[in-house]
Amino acid sequence: MHLTLWATHEQQQHALACQPQFLQRDIQTTLQIVDKINPKFLRQHPELALILDNNGLHLAAAGMQMQPDWIGQLARLKRASRKNELIARACQTEQQPLLIDATAGLGHDGLLLAWLGARVTLIERHPVLFALLQDAHLAASHHAELAETMQRIQLVHGEASDYLTQCQQSSTRIDVVYLDPMFPKGGHKDQKKQALVKKEMQILHQLLPENGTMDLGEYLLPLAQQIAGRVIVKRPRHAPTLTAAIPQHQWLGDACRFDGYFQARL
Ligand SMILES: C[S@@+](CC[C@H](N)C(=O)[O-])C[C@H]1O[C@@H](n2cnc3c(N)ncnc32)[C@H](O)[C@@H]1O
Repeated sequence: MHLTLWATHEQQQHALACQPQFLQRDIQTTLQIVDKINPKFLRQHPELALILDNNGLHLAAAGMQMQPDWIGQLARLKRASRKNELIARACQTEQQPLLIDATAGLGHDGLLLAWLGARVTLIERHPVLFALLQDAHLAASHHAELAETMQRIQLVHGEASDYLTQCQQSSTRIDVVYLDPMFPKGGHKDQKKQALVKKEMQILHQLLPENGTMDLGEYLLPLAQQIAGRVIVKRPRHAPTLTAAIPQHQWLGDACRFDGYFQARL
């Protein structure tokens, strides 16, 4: 894919160093140096693009920008516990599981799970999202309050079904597989909630457009069930289950729910 890379003067050298790394992942970039990247600039350049400024690497589209802001998640992380985070209960973070988050996205769920003790492998196949994740991981590794958690997070660029198949073939022990595949934009029953789809998701949907062939990830569930005793699938609260398989337990939140599929220890 080809994207413009907007960088500020201060980040010019950094941007030049990033370009070959992007190219290795098939992202061709045209570097454009600008004085200032602010909301007005973003509105004037609404096309999908990468941005590098003093706040790190961002993806921009439609006048907005986003990044996996792991440092910005600290307030939520500090409040997080098994009591107030359903995802922690569903994934049993207190047992410090070996966990694969097979659909990493911005890595916010994986970050929370690692913060609460899980050892997390984050898998992301989209090269741009993977580049954003690498940048977030690096920035967080230099942050005093996140450095230790970063040691529990491993990033993998690739197709999750390949990775899960390799785990099965090598009999790698995994405690939990966590799945949060894309859900169609029009898939929310509740139109008010639909309107509130977060900025991040709006930009993600531009990067991963629905052209009638959106990958909904159904094939990941049976694969995950073959390698982990516990598979947790995140869904919008009123969405159908990922496949016809009936979850053994559901944790219901306001906007989303977690479906649990348990297998006898493999
Ligand atoms: C809804 S987002 C996940 C959001 C994530 N839970 C978070 O906290 O930011 C889904 C992500 O999974 C990735 N994905 C979907 N299917 C995948 C697959 N088979 N292998 C690897 N990545 C996949 C998509 O590229 C997308 O970035």
